[in-house]
Amino acid sequence: MTRTLRAPAPLIDRLRQLASRPGAAAGIPVPARRSSPLSLNRMPHPKLWDDPEWRAVGRVLGLSQDDGWYHRKAFEWTHCIYGLERLEAIGPLSTVLGVGAGHEVVLYHLANRSRLTVATDLYSGDFVDSVSSEADPEFLTNPQKFAPFRYREEALIGLPADGCRLPFADASFDVVYSLSSIEHFGGHAAAARAMAEIGRVLRVGGIACVATELVLAGGPHPEYFTMQEIHEWLIDPSGLVLVEQIDPELPPQEYLDDPVRLPEQVLRTPHLVLAAGEVRFTSLILFLRKPGPVGLLAGGSRRVALAAARRLNGRPGVHSAAGPAAR
Ligand SMILES: C[S@@+](CC[C@H](N)C(=O)[O-])C[C@H]1O[C@@H](n2cnc3c(N)ncnc32)[C@H](O)[C@@H]1O
Repeated sequence: MTRTLRAPAPLIDRLRQLASRPGAAAGIPVPARRSSPLSLNRMPHPKLWDDPEWRAVGRVLGLSQDDGWYHRKAFEWTHCIYGLERLEAIGPLSTVLGVGAGHEVVLYHLANRSRLTVATDLYSGDFVDSVSSEADPEFLTNPQKFAPFRYREEALIGLPADGCRLPFADASFDVVYSLSSIEHFGGHAAAARAMAEIGRVLRVGGIACVATELVLAGGPHPEYFTMQEIHEWLIDPSGLVLVEQIDPELPPQEYLDDPVRLPEQVLRTPHLVLAAGEVRFTSLILFLRKPGPVGLLAGGSRRVALAAARRLNGRPGVHSAAGPAAR
């Protein structure tokens, strides 16, 4: 008689509880940054436009190759697809969710590179009539109207949905992405809720790609994020782990010295560093992976060990396991 070995139900429940704790993923070590060919978690830099493979992705997306090409929207759209391809996150069997997606070009490319791509957005409110009218509700009934190139119509669906309350079951998607949107959801706490939702609907091992506004100087800002706030409000609440460490390379100094001033210079290019009043900011794009129970357990143990070591180090002369570390 053969017997199947199963983990006992209480252990599985315990793993689930551990995995759903806020900050559960924070103890998992983040892999070192790979600067070759290009770092993934990064700010825009003209060097990206010099990379033939990266440039080719921009061409596939049908983005202009003229001066306007030095634009952070082009950076976000191109780098999102470049990174998802490099991480082998998309392919004919994958399911993809866009959050705050409007009717951006990336959706149409993803429809060609996935089994199903679901675009969600409020499709109402401020962005219906904004300068670039990013969330036209007509997309819901007539997505072909906004298509920049031929795409697999059966693989793209639009759905009105609040990014802070996604109408999908846990672990529904292989990839979830959101570009230049979560900072518009109503402040840092709303962005944190959206990140938790992104983490929830992603399957274990799935990849999230999130771009938002990084404050370089003059902060804090109620909607944009300093680097510390990126961790506090976005990465930690997501339950996800960065695929590699964040590249600290800034856009070139000339862009920092002479930023595009909003709103009066909104159409000026190059458009990589912006100024709104005192605040200077640029885009930051992050790729994150959803850890499984084994990773979470290992990360949890590591966190406990590190906290114990910190407590011990903070109290020179304490050598006993019965000392502060044991509390
Ligand atoms: C700056 S636009 C970016 C749109 C698109 N990602 C792009 O890059 O073209 C911000 C988007 O966030 C959407 N949005 C704002 N609040 C939202 C919410 N609570 N849930 C989902 N989408 C929201 C807006 O409707 C808008 O389409």
